[in-house]
Amino acid sequence: METVNEVYKIPVMISKGMFQLFSSHMEILAVVGGCFILWNFFSFLHFWYSMIQQYAIPCFLSRSKHIRQYGEWAIVTGATSGIGKAYAEELASHGMNIILVSRNPEKLKEVSEAIAATYKVKTRFIVADFSLGREVYPHIKEALRNVEVGILVNNAGVFHDYPQITTEVPEDKLWEIINVNIGAAVMMVHIVLPGMVQRKRGAIVNVSSGTCCKATPLMNIYASSKVT
Ligand SMILES: NC(=O)c1ccc[n+]([C@@H]2O[C@H](COP(=O)([O-])OP(=O)(O)OC[C@H]3O[C@@H](n4cnc5c(N)ncnc54)[C@H](OP(=O)(O)O)[C@@H]3O)[C@@H](O)[C@H]2O)c1
Repeated sequence: METVNEVYKIPVMISKGMFQLFSSHMEILAVVGGCFILWNFFSFLHFWYSMIQQYAIPCFLSRSKHIRQYGEWAIVTGATSGIGKAYAEELASHGMNIILVSRNPEKLKEVSEAIAATYKVKTRFIVADFSLGREVYPHIKEALRNVEVGILVNNAGVFHDYPQITTEVPEDKLWEIINVNIGAAVMMVHIVLPGMVQRKRGAIVNVSSGTCCKATPLMNIYASSKVT
């Protein structure tokens, strides 16, 4: 009779055990859920803190003073059109003197005169074709001797003429992409960085591309040249 009673107790013991197990799982789930909510809450706070710090506060404070603390002169490569020209104009609007670098002397003269007249800053320009590789840099180095470069914007960049598989891209185009997108960025840093280090101030901006962050079939050479 006693054995039968023991047998009846087994389901009761199992259900008690299951209840305990279940409730401890519930506690674990509650802790995981709590951590998730806290993580989301702090991410939300961090997002709005960054937004306010980067976009809202500069609207009320003078960014010009902050930008000019890097030095008097900014160099922008590929400054005669597109993004480079916009960079040159924006920096000039904050009182930076601008040195423009690209291939076409007429365009350089026109843009540098327009920037000087509009923003009342000093401008200079250097004619250089980065696709030629190593030979252009002694001339640039000489032109920048005794110039306190505060900001360098490595913007000049070239793209494939049209999307192509790597084996079909002409060798000249490959060298142009390497020399302009990679070589020029590296060599311009090599020219201006020693002065910045000596003065303990300076900023370098490398204009990249969204293509560097994802698989870009038919543009992979350009995409890899824009990884910074
Ligand atoms: N446009 C886009 O949608 C886009 C998107 C992502 C990233 N980007 C990047 O942003 C940068 C600017 O693009 P963008 O579209 O504004 O270019 P863009 O309008 O074609 O202007 C290119 C600039 O670079 C100069 N340049 C071209 N070849 C040069 C060379 N061999 N040596 C010296 N200067 C040269 C050009 O001036 P000259 O002709 O007078 O030499 C021009 O001032 C590039 O680095 C590009 O990779 C562009």
